[in-house]
Amino acid sequence: MAARRTDALIVDAVRSPIGRKNGTLSHIRGDDLAAQVVNGLVERNGVDPAEIEDIQFGCVTQIDEQAWNIGRNVALTVGWPVSVCGTTVDRQCGSSMQTNFNAAAAVWSGQLDLVVSGGVEMMSRVPMGSNHGSMSGAVHERHDIVMQGISAEEIAAKWDLSREDLDRYSYTSHMRAARATDEGRFEKEIIPVELDLPSPDSGSTLVRTRFAVDEAVRRETTVEKMASLQPAFVPGGRVTAGNSSQIVDGCAAVLVASEEKASALGLEPRARFLGFGIAGVDPHLMLHGNPQACERALAKAGLAWDDIEVIEVNEAFASVVLQFLADTGLRERWEAGDVNPNGGGISLGHPLGATGARITATLVSELERRNARYGIAAMCIGFGQAIAGVVERLA
Ligand SMILES: CC(C)(COP(=O)(O)OP(=O)(O)OC[C@H]1O[C@@H](n2cnc3c(N)ncnc32)[C@H](O)[C@@H]1OP(=O)(O)O)[C@@H](O)C(=O)NCCC(=O)NCCS
Repeated sequence: MAARRTDALIVDAVRSPIGRKNGTLSHIRGDDLAAQVVNGLVERNGVDPAEIEDIQFGCVTQIDEQAWNIGRNVALTVGWPVSVCGTTVDRQCGSSMQTNFNAAAAVWSGQLDLVVSGGVEMMSRVPMGSNHGSMSGAVHERHDIVMQGISAEEIAAKWDLSREDLDRYSYTSHMRAARATDEGRFEKEIIPVELDLPSPDSGSTLVRTRFAVDEAVRRETTVEKMASLQPAFVPGGRVTAGNSSQIVDGCAAVLVASEEKASALGLEPRARFLGFGIAGVDPHLMLHGNPQACERALAKAGLAWDDIEVIEVNEAFASVVLQFLADTGLRERWEAGDVNPNGGGISLGHPLGATGARITATLVSELERRNARYGIAAMCIGFGQAIAGVVERLA
């Protein structure tokens, strides 16, 4: 591993419960939700918010309530001193893994000592694509740019993944997420949220409600029900609503510190970042870069797959995870429960800009639960990229 001045410590990593599409969290703005999450993060660690130098937040659909640099707006919404800076990062689905990378790099290089890295995406309130992006004709001349669901279909075809395989993977994701919920595995990472919900009796009356449990998991689903769903993107295709990540609302945040700052504030770090990797791949197939990103992150960390005990690979689509397992030869480790042991984007949902920090929080909790040392979190990214980060639990 390259020599560094200081470790980039993960003091703590938390998240909101994830709300299903048009569900509980559709009644709160993203900045108001994020304010509760980052406040919970600093409060439970006894950190004076004035010590935070920067909030780096991932958010993909930066329009309307999520525009105007939501990273800074979170600091202002929670009422932290105006000295707490904030920025917003868009590396599409990898945005809050990128903020981890940015925060760790800033700490490693001695430029910052205490950073909140996280993300938020309220997909019910600010729909994916509502920021109406477009690309230069030059890109379209070189590449056949399609939507993610089409790439997921093409990956399924190219890697010869059957509909049954995609559905079985996805069913397992729901069962694992339900078990993790029942066993309380998410309790340490979830910051319960308070919000006003319309009363079921009279929509105009608001009832203060505490929301603490992930809402998108379909514990009642069966392989047969999933097999009956129609293809979502291509007639006759294999990708359905059941084997795609769910559209949801959520927020997650990681407190990253230098060793000097952690020791000065008496903080007890739970883990540290060891290395990151990014990979650029064909923008048409788009979602198949996880193996390369992991390879690079592992090389930076000086580790190999055999060292890694827990693997989080964002479930953008079942085909993406199965392609990752095929390319890395890790299929048996998924069967054994080392890959996405507590479900993922298919069962819990994938709040785009928040997912990188969400899977980091879940990874750290799971390393602790297993008394394990090394873990990796990886995610594919729209238009042909991927990003991965390696984490070491600190006893
Ligand atoms: C695939 C997608 C278009 C489906 O959207 P949707 O139709 O709004 O999805 P829903 O959750 O309403 O599910 C559709 C139907 O399937 C059913 N369904 C979904 N998952 C199910 C499951 N696991 N078991 C049983 N039924 C299921 C729903 O109950 C619903 O049934 P209904 O129409 O009778 O109510 C959407 O989830 C999507 O775009 N996902 C990918 C997001 C994305 O691209 N993210 C970036 C990744 S790179």
